[in-house]
Amino acid sequence: MNQILNYLSYLFKSTNLHGIHSPLVYSLVKDVIYKRKDKSEKFKSIEAIRKELIKERSLISGLDFGAGSSSNSSQKTIGDFARSSSKSVKFSRLLYRLSKWQQPKYALELGTALGISGMYQTIGFGDSAKFITLEGNSLLAAKAQKNYKKLNFNSIEIIEGNFDNTLSIALEKMPQLDWVFFDGNHKKEPTIRYFHQCLEKASEKALFIFDDINWSAEMQEAWDEIKQHAKVYITIDLFFLGLVFLEKRPQKEHFIVRF
Ligand SMILES: C[S@@+](CC[C@H](N)C(=O)[O-])C[C@H]1O[C@@H](n2cnc3c(N)ncnc32)[C@H](O)[C@@H]1O
Repeated sequence: MNQILNYLSYLFKSTNLHGIHSPLVYSLVKDVIYKRKDKSEKFKSIEAIRKELIKERSLISGLDFGAGSSSNSSQKTIGDFARSSSKSVKFSRLLYRLSKWQQPKYALELGTALGISGMYQTIGFGDSAKFITLEGNSLLAAKAQKNYKKLNFNSIEIIEGNFDNTLSIALEKMPQLDWVFFDGNHKKEPTIRYFHQCLEKASEKALFIFDDINWSAEMQEAWDEIKQHAKVYITIDLFFLGLVFLEKRPQKEHFIVRF
């Protein structure tokens, strides 16, 4: 019920292109966020994998890592997990467009799951990026690895284990961070903690993307705290995702954009 009210409030407050007065954000929204026709041939192969995963009836346990966004159960079929926890086609494509636009050299994802979002991001990153993704569930990490291999995404590195331990390992492997997709552990305290950890390595023009910023009161509080951080200049609330730009600007600006 709360989510529905939150969504209605978002629809009321959000704007489309006409309400955006910042030239930088206007062009990002027009040329990247709303450019839905930008597609890659590889999307079909990823979606074929998603389709196969959705059919899988085998059980996967140990899904209680840090409050998954759409699930409260610690056991599910692979199919149900693929349907409920992997980013939808709409948001996966948005991740692709943003990663293609951002062209990070060093990229990180918290929450690999079955590898769907990682593959979309990698198409956008291109060949030269170093991309590490973190996953706590060993069965999911193995499945993701298999999916990456199937489609020749051989450069993606998965680090298995709790983010509390693996994030610092990943950060040690990266001289800087240009991109982070936070898509696991949707609780306030760890979200803020991981954000601060990543900030220490963030490059001047880094883009941080947070999943499910409106999923719960806790996540909304986390989002508000992130927006207020001194190193954050521009944020864009797309309801299901929040974009955070660290590049210095004359003033802070926060946008709520209909997507
Ligand atoms: C929403 S799913 C990620 C979906 C994936 N990004 C995609 O769209 O294809 C979140 C994942 O994060 C993992 N996770 C959550 N909290 C974690 C933690 N504290 N440590 C390690 N993994 C965690 C879960 O096991 C789950 O696979």
